[in-house]
Amino acid sequence: MFLAFPQQFVWGTSTAAAQVETAGQHPWHGMSALDGYRFERTTDHELRRAQDAENIKKLGNIYRCGVDWSRLQPEPMAKFDPAVVAEYRTFFQQLAEGRVRLMLVLHHFCHPNWFEAMGAWTKEENIPFFVNYTQQCIKHFGEFAAYWNTFNEPNVYAMNAYMLGNFPPFKKGRYFTANRVLDNMGKAHEIASLLIHEKFKDAPIGISLNTAVFRGLNFPGKLVAAFVDWWFLSRAARPFVKCDFWGISYYAYMLFDPFPIDAISRLEKLKRLAIPHDRMWGYLPEGLGIMLHRFYKKYKKPILITENGICTDDSEVRIESLKSYLKVCHQAIEEGVDLQGYIHWSTWDNFEWHLGPTYRFGLIRVDFETMERTFTPAAEFYSRVTRENGFDL
Ligand code: BGC
Repeated sequence: MFLAFPQQFVWGTSTAAAQVETAGQHPWHGMSALDGYRFERTTDHELRRAQDAENIKKLGNIYRCGVDWSRLQPEPMAKFDPAVVAEYRTFFQQLAEGRVRLMLVLHHFCHPNWFEAMGAWTKEENIPFFVNYTQQCIKHFGEFAAYWNTFNEPNVYAMNAYMLGNFPPFKKGRYFTANRVLDNMGKAHEIASLLIHEKFKDAPIGISLNTAVFRGLNFPGKLVAAFVDWWFLSRAARPFVKCDFWGISYYAYMLFDPFPIDAISRLEKLKRLAIPHDRMWGYLPEGLGIMLHRFYKKYKKPILITENGICTDDSEVRIESLKSYLKVCHQAIEEGVDLQGYIHWSTWDNFEWHLGPTYRFGLIRVDFETMERTFTPAAEFYSRVTRENGFDL
């Protein structure tokens, strides 16, 4: 049976500048990841833009990515470095020539060291620095952006940076700070949206919100799951409701018994309980359908899946997972959800933040010694799906 998607459905892939470019002057630079790699040279994207653009073109008609704020603006409020602007513009031009549209992400877990030193998103008075950066992004890159994501997963950022201590500045248990961070990002989102729409009034703007299914394995676990569900999916979304679409990412099925809050370190437990999982989380493709319905019912706005994928080394497993997820998407559309696009994470293997590059999500495999790229069978499969606008189940 061929599962055909709507004619205007958008297909693509995504990366984030910090995860694929050699690290600029940002807080991740130099960090040692769990797998032993140092956050420095990531995938040499800045040296391989033409080759990467060719690969991106084979994987749909949209590419979601960002720029490295720290490379563009080494000092607060400075004019963007013209050489870095030219580098990005050439790349975006290459994509445009291949009829690949851009979803431009302004903030993806990363900002310059000088912004971090000022207290980053914990302080409302820092918002003007982001606004200045946004204005220059609009000026230099706006013509290429078909869609905008002001923030990538503010919920994941606030949780990891201020509650779990996994992301810079590695603070733990600062619940109220995390909420303040969300609210400041929300204010920045609203200002950025006005500025973008002043210049590009039809460009859809949204954030990407991470979604996950949280379940308790016992009574106390259920209480924790209910709280995390509320915080992660409702409280964290609230500052961003002024958007044209919801960008939704989905990967994880999180179980609580009642701890830990972060299931990543508990693969042993998932194994013991015989719960399907990838290298990072519990695996439940139907959960994506639950999230799509929930967000559509609540906000009645178009949805784009801005990220979805699986952490594995095995290309065949990735293909099976793609099929399962796309089947869920197809069904949600049939049931009336206004789902307009699917963007897979990630285009090629990249530096998985505090865990390191060997936590692979790429359709394209990267050899981290030579940086050589290989189109995997999963990339062939996905490329076909994007060309045929559907697939044989
Ligand atoms: C993030 C990506 C990350 C991916 C896989 C998302 O939460 O936006 O940067 O690599 O998940 O963990």
